[in-house]
Amino acid sequence: MEKELVVVIDFGGQYNQLVARRVRECNVYCEIYSYKTDLSKIKEMRPKGIILTGGPSSCYEEGAAVCSPELFAMGIPVLGLCYGAQVMSFLLGGDVARAKVREYGKTDVDVDTSSRLFEGVSPHTVCWMSHFDYIARMAPGFRAVAATENCPVAAAECAEKQLYAIQFHPEVLHTAEGAKMLYNFVRNICGCSGDWRMDSFVEESIKGIREKVGKGKVLCALSGGVDSSVAAVLLSKAVGDQLTCVFVDHGLLRKNEGDEVEAVFGPEGNYKLNFIRVNVQNRFYDKLAGAQEPEKKRKIIGEEFIRVFEEEAKKIGSVDFLVQGTIYPDVVESGLGGESVVIKSHHNVGALPDCVDFKEILEPLRDLFKDEVRKVGLELGIPEHLVFRQPFPGPGLGVRIIGEVTSEKVKIVQDADAIYREEIANAGLDRELNQYFAALTNMRSVGVMGDERTYDYAVALRAVNTVDFMTAEAAQVPWEVLQKVAGRIINEVSHVNRVMYDVTSKPPGTIEFE
Ligand code: XMP
Repeated sequence: MEKELVVVIDFGGQYNQLVARRVRECNVYCEIYSYKTDLSKIKEMRPKGIILTGGPSSCYEEGAAVCSPELFAMGIPVLGLCYGAQVMSFLLGGDVARAKVREYGKTDVDVDTSSRLFEGVSPHTVCWMSHFDYIARMAPGFRAVAATENCPVAAAECAEKQLYAIQFHPEVLHTAEGAKMLYNFVRNICGCSGDWRMDSFVEESIKGIREKVGKGKVLCALSGGVDSSVAAVLLSKAVGDQLTCVFVDHGLLRKNEGDEVEAVFGPEGNYKLNFIRVNVQNRFYDKLAGAQEPEKKRKIIGEEFIRVFEEEAKKIGSVDFLVQGTIYPDVVESGLGGESVVIKSHHNVGALPDCVDFKEILEPLRDLFKDEVRKVGLELGIPEHLVFRQPFPGPGLGVRIIGEVTSEKVKIVQDADAIYREEIANAGLDRELNQYFAALTNMRSVGVMGDERTYDYAVALRAVNTVDFMTAEAAQVPWEVLQKVAGRIINEVSHVNRVMYDVTSKPPGTIEFE
């Protein structure tokens, strides 16, 4: 049976991947293609439906991003969203014009529930608007099926030709019933049966990787983090021992983490891959000796990491493919994604390729969000403690020790952090908090232990709640939990006589404590 596919045509809007994600949530497979893709290629894929995304252009301007008008004559349902809705109207003979004011934010909308697009949706609902241009006159054959106070054509349809246009963004969660609208489109209007699941993603990826890699050699830098672990396992399932994973233990990992990674991926683990653990802890401590300043430490760690990886790659000889655990948010942030504009450059993407001789990069997770990567991880049988690991920065504990990094300080922060994590898990908070860790301040102060005077370090505990890691709130960890952690750290970790809790949000703080 032919696989049901919905094609998402990307015009460069910020929410485009969300469109694909919402379609996947309807258990329908979809792929994203640039608006520049040849119509013949799209026809060959025989999609069940097409969705046109938002985008930054004005469709009536010279050189604007537009698709071929023939797309609307293929006899398959098409849904235009925001800019996509305008492009559809414009190309089919309607008028699109610039409004006097931009309509932005949550907006009340009245929808005509006799439209198949709005079946089961409340007649008065809330949508997310973000546009300057608007559909001033609908294309012939269309009727308006939604309106807001400022936007008379918030949605339009030509049901006979199965063409639908929505000015707002159903893919954004602020559109209260947006998921239902997209469901109506892909399941009811396009008639997709909804038989696609995450296990299909795994199957498809493995098949695709095998075809691409053939008998080639594949190299992967494994950090033990969620993304690189899932990418490595996917690759190992696809090409087995054609894959070599290099795990650099720079001595700045959390307590026992190096051994945990080795237990899963090494010779005793479940996977048939070549696993190389490079124990270069002292090499990193030597390089870091004397460095106080956070940026300097980050630079040293980053450069040394590349050097070690390069040395290992040389030992392996020429490789054909380099695996990167890039996921969708990295793609958007580094501006690599489809037609989207650059938001910020990410610290990890792109650092390694320069030091390895290879033909092509493999990024099997580049279309997935973090929670989807985790689902794939579980699907692949990766242990839960790895799949649900909280984020951990590339430079590791190097950015959780204020001032100079030494092996003694690493041990202190590892032990304190292990206690903190254990107690957070005991309190059942480990899946609730988005990130939490212990950091070692460079401050020593006077204390008293038994009858002795002490002069030791202060450990800082941090826990944050955040959606996107760009902003964060300090979490309200219960006092009893904090007291228990503080008591245990002082009793069990030498050279610590004070424990503090960081209540700073981001901004003005950052999540890490460096
Ligand atoms: P900040 O400290 O900037 O951190 O608020 C935001 C998120 O990014 C993580 N982080 C990093 N992740 N390499 C990474 O892979 C890095 O160099 C790095 N620095 C910070 C941090 O742990 C938090 O989740």
